[in-house]
This record gives sequence, structure tokens and C-alpha cells, in this order.
Amino acid sequence: MNKITIAIDGFSSTGKSTVAKQLAKHLGYVYVDTGAMYRAVTFYAMQNGLISAVDFNKEALIYQLPNIEITFKFNEALGFAEVYLNGVNIEKEIRNLEVSSYVSKVAAISEVRQKLVEQQKKMGQDKGVVMDGRDIGTVVFPDAKLKLFMTASAETRAKRRYQELIERGDKVDYKDVLQNVQERDYIDSNRKDSPLVKAKDAIEIDNSHMTLDEQFNKILQLAKMTIEDL
Ligand code: DC
Repeated sequence: MNKITIAIDGFSSTGKSTVAKQLAKHLGYVYVDTGAMYRAVTFYAMQNGLISAVDFNKEALIYQLPNIEITFKFNEALGFAEVYLNGVNIEKEIRNLEVSSYVSKVAAISEVRQKLVEQQKKMGQDKGVVMDGRDIGTVVFPDAKLKLFMTASAETRAKRRYQELIERGDKVDYKDVLQNVQERDYIDSNRKDSPLVKAKDAIEIDNSHMTLDEQFNKILQLAKMTIEDL
């Protein structure tokens, strides 16, 4: 069967990764979470004292980019690939609110984007990939056969994110989660390099009122139609 590239972009906490993972599993494709890569660089910056609430040493981070190696390793039990920073599994550490509060600033640096986009292009060169992020359909794979753009209201997304963090045992305030979602929307959409925009040929899916099953079925149907059309 023909293999295609599926690009899923959209605002933060729209549930892109949940549906992308499910779709990749169903089609036997590789799933790549590009947000995890930007989070891994942010985590490196935090660990090395390059970013904090009061300071951000961008130049040092750019200088140290060659020291950052991001890899993915499939975890059979979880059914998806976990992210590693210089050989260390950091899948859990990169999901907290502190990393979320710095990541948009790191993702706005062109040198960081260049490095990660180059790696993402290589990871998708054999097709058969579902990749989610902010610039997949516009920059990483502008020729992707299927492009989706996921949206939902900021409140819906903050509620989902809040629930996820609470379930993991993090102590967070809904207000802070909503503020983080809104700040990231703003920075991601207004940065100079590869801002979050819907690709002209992307199909928009507002999932504010859709269940996970409804989203999955809709996206699977679109994927099947696209594959059959080749
Ligand atoms: O999808 P996520 O919330 O894990 O992404 C974390 C941040 O990384 C998000 O605020 C924007 C940035 N990002 C990006 O700029 N480009 C991508 N392809 C993926 C994520």
C-alpha cells in the first residue's frame, strides 16, 4: 500500500498527539512528536542554567546546540516512542508546566528551529509518518499529502491540559494553565520564524465538541481517502 506523510498542526493542547499516536498505530506508521523536541532543548537549557524566570542566555544556548542530541526510542509497553536527551529518557520531565512556560521562547530561536527541522525532515524522508507540531504542513513537509489543522477554544484546551497535569500528580492552578495556553498561542502565532499558521491546503478540525473516537474516525477516514487517491 502507498505510504504518505501526514502533517498535524495546531494550537497547544488541542489533542494533536493523542490522535496522531492512535492514527500512526492504526496505519503502522511512525509517529513523531516535534513539540517534544522543542521541549527537550528547553529542558537542556534549564538543566544548564541558561533559562530561568528572570534570565535567558540565548547566545549560550545557540553556541551549545551541537551538544544537544535528541533521539526517540519506541517503548513497546506504551506503544509510542519516548524522547531522549543525550541518551537520557526525559519523556516525563518535559511535560511539566515549568518547561511549558519557557518552551515557546526557545522555539522562537531560528537556530534551534533549523537544527530540529533538519532532523525532522530526515525522520520523515521514507514517508509512512504522522508528525505533529506547529509548522509541519508549512515548513517541514510542505508537500505532505494530508495536512490537518486542529483547533479548540483556549478554555477547552486549558481544561484538558489541567486534567492531564492533575492526573499525573502535578499541583497546578487552572488559572495558570489557561494563562500558559494563551501565552503560548500568542508567542507561537507571532514569532518571526515559522509562526503557527494554517497551511492553505490544510483541513481544519475544531474538536471543542468532539470525542476522541469522533476525532479519530474522522481523521482515519481522511487518511484512507488520501491513500486511496494516490
Ligand atoms: O506541542 P507542544 O505543546 O508539546 O509544543 C511545545 C512548544 O514547542 C509549543 O509551544 C511550540 C513549539 N513547537 C514549535 O514551535 N514547532 C513545532 N513543530 C512543535 C512545537
